[in-house]
Formats: sequence, structure tokens, C-alpha cells
Amino acid sequence: MTTKIIILDFGGQYTQLIARRIRELGVYSEILPCTEPVDRVLGGGYTGIVLSGGPSSVYEDEAPLPDKRLLESGIPLLGICYGMQAMGYLLGGHVVPAERREYGKAHLRLLSREGLLHGVQPEADGLVTVWMSHGDTVLQPPPGFTSLAATDNCPVAAMADPVRRLFAVQFHPEVAHTPQGKTVLKNFLSAAGATADWSMPSFVDSAVESIRRQVGKDPVLCALSGGVDSSVVAALIHRAVGDQLTCLFVDNGLLRRGEAEAVVRTFRDTFKMHLIHVDASKRFVDRLEGVTDPEVKRKTIGAEFIAVFEEEARKLGHIPWLAQGTLYPDVIESVSFKGPSATIKTHHNVGGLPPNMRFKLIEPLRELFKDEVRELGALLGLPGEIIWRQPFPGPGLAIRVLGEVTEERLALLREADAIVQDEVRQAGLEREIWQAFAVLLPIRTVGVMGDFRTYAQVIALRAVTSQDAMTADWARLPYDLLGKISSRVINEVKGVNRVVYDISSKPPSTIEWE
Ligand code: XMP
Repeated sequence: MTTKIIILDFGGQYTQLIARRIRELGVYSEILPCTEPVDRVLGGGYTGIVLSGGPSSVYEDEAPLPDKRLLESGIPLLGICYGMQAMGYLLGGHVVPAERREYGKAHLRLLSREGLLHGVQPEADGLVTVWMSHGDTVLQPPPGFTSLAATDNCPVAAMADPVRRLFAVQFHPEVAHTPQGKTVLKNFLSAAGATADWSMPSFVDSAVESIRRQVGKDPVLCALSGGVDSSVVAALIHRAVGDQLTCLFVDNGLLRRGEAEAVVRTFRDTFKMHLIHVDASKRFVDRLEGVTDPEVKRKTIGAEFIAVFEEEARKLGHIPWLAQGTLYPDVIESVSFKGPSATIKTHHNVGGLPPNMRFKLIEPLRELFKDEVRELGALLGLPGEIIWRQPFPGPGLAIRVLGEVTEERLALLREADAIVQDEVRQAGLEREIWQAFAVLLPIRTVGVMGDFRTYAQVIALRAVTSQDAMTADWARLPYDLLGKISSRVINEVKGVNRVVYDISSKPPSTIEWE
């Protein structure tokens, strides 16, 4: 990889998308906070710099302005939204604070079809749809710049100084609502002289090499949960160091139907990995006896996981390395520039690292976004059922059996849930829907079957759409699908006589019920 782009984050809500789009164009890009020391940025070997959007106004006392040395460094630079206003302000343009933020669709009038806007096609009305979300506005570009486009509210919606290779756009080229945004980003990359040498096959080669270098001949342990991230980590490390890897799969008995079998089949049988499958179902269910409080349930399961993991790891003797499926968004989250719009993410940490065990961590997915992890998984030969698995909570079905968790109630929920999974998959909605699952309620209701009155269990159906689980909306599943799931659950799962659909969004509800 010879080319890399740095995105300096000024607290914009779309910063991660900029990095993803640039990578989609085949160029490696990474995000650092705008507070990164300028010498480190200049000495980092970057081919180009992007200044992201952000919630500030350049006229605020505390506005995070980029260091002027970045603009004078000769490294090609693209300012997006706040990044453009900051450039305009620092280089002597005329930037005015807006009375209120302009937000939403806007229509560009192209003043140039060269350079940054090369290949951008006017639509039927002669204009180009873009997405705006800004406060300040550049009224007059700085000396050396020309204005490339305008909208009704923005006399300078894009500007460039091709000699110094400084570019800026007021709109957001990285979002889907700017349909030709990728062309703009591509033009910047080519003006910067970037080569498209970032691809998943090349990532695999370099990751394999660096894992080998990092661990040498040492053994590596990987805690496999069956989810996408840990599965891809295991497959990648196995590709690098083969039998030096041991995977530990703690089956807590709280998984969905067929999941434990799929993990064993994939990793032991297909990949021929050294997989230790610990069937700890009974231990977990025993511990959960009489526990009804959701927080106590979670803590009980977390503590039991650590106990089992420690016992099993100890049996394996000294293993210095532990592989973890940390992804790039977690890395960015921990270093990101927290503007006023920053959201606080709650970390659920079940199945984390036992606190008193000393491992050196190996995190080969640290640079990747979730969709890249899926692409990598496919390249490494993982089956679709693992790559496209929906998120599943560490405490598993225990937090979907409301009230006390028993073998019988787990079995009933597992059966109902399998029908939900099956029908959602058959309807082709598996990838569109963030999560769809069944919940067993701690009540019984009256029904009638044939000539008999029944007094039986209720299954709630939960299906949500979401981008990142921080907010979610209830999925508008087709009525026919809802009807089919309901009648199958009631007919096929003994002991259920009612199915209800959860129509709450998050917030104020959560995705899980406990
Ligand atoms: P909530 O219910 O908080 O869930 O809206 C947000 C997302 O997190 C998942 N979730 C968990 N994941 N351990 C996990 O690894 C947990 O304890 C846990 N609790 C909830 C949930 O399925 C959803 O995707």
C-alpha cells in the first residue's frame, strides 16, 4: 500500500462515511481527531488530507481550526463543509455566520465541469442534487481560488485552487443523498495523485504477514462466539499461523437453534481448526435458576463466562496471545473528537477479557469497517450464514426469556425464534432488517383451540431497522409475513396461543426487552 489519505475529524456526523467512500474507491484512508499534532500529520506519509465537517462555526471562541501549516504543506487537501469554511476563513476568504443551519437537499449550479467537478452530470433540470448541512457560508473564496458551483443559498458551494491543490465543497459528497458525490471524491483523489491499491485481497496478504511477524512461533487463543467479528478474526489468524491458533467456543446454552452446530461444523470440520467446544449449557442454566432481574441475569452470565473461559484457558497451558475482533469504529470511538453533537455509546461487555488474565492482544480487524469485515469473511471462505448473521447479544436468549430462564422456556423460545428466522430469511429481508427475533413473555393469556379453552404463553415479535443499534425503528414488516409468522408459531410451538408485535422505537425503548 503506497497511498493513504488522512481524514481529520472535526466532530462531523458523517466522518466515518468519508473514510468508507474513499476506501470504496480503492484508496486506504484513516481518521484522526483534528487535535492530532500537526507534525505527526505532516510526517505520516499521507498522499492527501481531508478536513471533515463538524458542528462548529469558525467564529466560535473554541472553534477547532486546522493548523495553517497543513494548508501550506503542499499536501493536497479537501475541505468538506466545516472543513471548507475553516479553509476559507484561514486563507482570507469571506465567510459569514448563518442565522440558522441549512439542512437537507440542495441543487448545485455548476460553474465549472473541470477538475474537482469533472464528470459530474447535470440532471434534467440542469442542476445537480447534493446534501447540505451547514451553518457558516463562504461568500467569497480566498485569493487563488475559483468558485466551481453555487446554490440558491450558497454563492460558493465548491471551490478550488488547482495550483496549490486545495479543494473544498460546502455539500457532503460522502452521503448517499449526494448521488454524484463519489465522482467528486474520486476527482480529489486523482488530483492528489492517489493510486487505488487498497483492496481486500491485498489487505489479507499484508494482515497475514503482520500477524506472522507479531506472534512468531507463539500460540494464539481466540474466543469464538459464532458472531461475524470473532469468526473472521479466527479465519484470518488461522490463515496466517494455522495450528498455532486454538479457538475456544463457550457454548452457554443460550444460543439460537443450530448455532452451536454451525460453529463446530464451520471451524472444526470445514476449516480444520483446533476448536475447543465447551458445552457449558447446564452450568449457565443452573446459575440462572430463580434469577428474574435483567441486570442480575446479565451479570450472572458475564461472570460465568469468565469462569468457564479461565478454567478452559488454564488447561491449555501458557498462551501469550489473545485474538480480538475490535473493529475500526471502536478504535475511532476511543480517539474521536467529541464535538457538541457527540453521542455516548453504551458498551455491553459480556464475554470480554477476564480481568486477571494477562494476554497480549492481537486485533487484526482494527482497521476495518463492518462491511469490510464481511467482505474479508467471504474472501476467507466463511459461509453466508456466518457472514450475514444479525447481531446477537452476549447473554443470548436469556434476555429474551423474560422472567426466570429454564430449559423448557429456552426450548420453547428457540423453537419460536427459529420460525421467525426462517420466515424473515425466506421473505428476503434478512439483510435489510437489523435484527428480528422472538421474545417469550412471562405471562399467560386465554385462548380457544377447537372446543377447548387454553391458557398459554405469549410470544412477542421484535424486528427493527437500524444503522448502528444506537437508535432503531420498528420494522414495517409486511402484514402477510406477520400473519405467517404468527400462525406458524401458534400452530407449531406447543404452549403458545398468542403472538404480538412490538411497535416501539429506540429511544425510548431498547431493541432487547431486558
Ligand atoms: P439495546 O437492547 O440496548 O441493544 O437497544 C442494542 C444492541 O446491542 C445488542 N445487545 C448486546 N450485545 N452484549 C452484546 O454483545 C449484550 O449484553 C447486549 N445487550 C444488547 C442488541 O442485540 C442490539 O443489537
